[in-house]
Amino acid sequence: MTLFRATVLDTPDDPFEGGALRAQEDCGLLVEGGVIVARGDFAELRALHPHADVIDLREGMVLPGLVDTHVHFPQVRVIGGLGMPLLDWLDQCALPEEMRLADVDMARGVARDFVTGLVDAGTTTALVFGSHFAPAVDVMFEAADLWGLRVTTGLVTSDRILPEPLLTTPQRAYEESRDLASRWHGKGRLRYAVTPRFSLSASDAILESCATTFREVEGSWFTSHVNENTAEVAEVAQLFGGAAYVDTYDHHGLLSPRSVLAHNVHPTDPELATLAARGASVAHCPTSNSALGSGLFPLRRHVEAGVQVAMGSDVGAGTGFSMLKEGLQAYFMQRLLGDVGLPLTSAHLLWLCTSAGARALGLGHEVGDLSVGKQFDAIWLLPQAGDPLAVGMGNAKSADDALSKVFALGTTSDIGGVWVGGDQIAAGRWRMPRRT
Ligand code: GUN
Ligand code: ZN
Repeated sequence: MTLFRATVLDTPDDPFEGGALRAQEDCGLLVEGGVIVARGDFAELRALHPHADVIDLREGMVLPGLVDTHVHFPQVRVIGGLGMPLLDWLDQCALPEEMRLADVDMARGVARDFVTGLVDAGTTTALVFGSHFAPAVDVMFEAADLWGLRVTTGLVTSDRILPEPLLTTPQRAYEESRDLASRWHGKGRLRYAVTPRFSLSASDAILESCATTFREVEGSWFTSHVNENTAEVAEVAQLFGGAAYVDTYDHHGLLSPRSVLAHNVHPTDPELATLAARGASVAHCPTSNSALGSGLFPLRRHVEAGVQVAMGSDVGAGTGFSMLKEGLQAYFMQRLLGDVGLPLTSAHLLWLCTSAGARALGLGHEVGDLSVGKQFDAIWLLPQAGDPLAVGMGNAKSADDALSKVFALGTTSDIGGVWVGGDQIAAGRWRMPRRT
């Protein structure tokens, strides 16, 4: 048994529904078998468990492990391609790089870079957009398994518009997806995600093959893109006889509480109503939306329509793995929207980057906050003495204020430790996979 001693901040209750930040100084978290079995005042827990190993994290603060609900593994090496709208960026930046993953050795290196990026950013759970090549998806599952990360991913499928090496057929997509799922879905912390790239590059025939896989692989997830860019939305409407973008997925039964659609910057009200009725979630990716000029995310309309929203980094259109940066950019966006924006507090930002993501991925019973019964997935923020974040935290007026400073100033180099299921996988610049 291990007794962690720290200032612990988390959001067990939804701030969009009146929940507040939970902040506990000198908190004790007793962890056994990776699970938090007791929580309370450190001194009281220590008296009850005098033989537990104590890990003293009192300097800095402990937060739940961060949850990224939309991040592309093959794009880690093209982060930072600025100056283009979505369809040009895909043509010039993303797709040429993604074609290189046909080479499995290349894919292995990319997977290593990708997982390192997640771990260093304190992301312990992720819904990962995979590769168009099945062997590269294998490599991604292997890398996630090696580190013990909670990763849901799968084969990306498309049968039109993209460069020929990235295309498949509905039958081949089905066979390769079933094969990958049979080997990885439910293994340890891994799960399978049925992943048509977007309706622009997916005919009704391949969406139907996705629907078959989604039905047949019990507990699998569905993910894709929707309503990201106005030119893309217009092209999708043309290809599907004027259908609304959300409906192109809904017609095939792909929307459910196990579905996460990225972006949704330009939804209609009926589309929001459909997402809410299906219990599907939206991954809001603010640095990507800003970098590609996709638009300002209508968070208030999502919340008012009852659509669940979580956060995604959308690497590589997004500008990095840091969910703290995504939180800050989400805050900026809502400010820029003025009267139609939704003012966000630091508690909202933490909720969006932790509990909301866990819920969107159906993992809310296991991770997302640091309550008794949850897995000990956690990050330790430990800014260097004298750094702006250390100064800010040291002079914070309240826990909410300290957390605002974390979102305003925090970077991946402020993360002093990362734990998944009670196992420490990173400490400062040291990173430790489970086995080598
Ligand atoms: N739509 C289809 N593919 C992609 C992608 O790779 N990134 C983003 N941001 N949008 C997409
Ligand atoms: Zn994306």
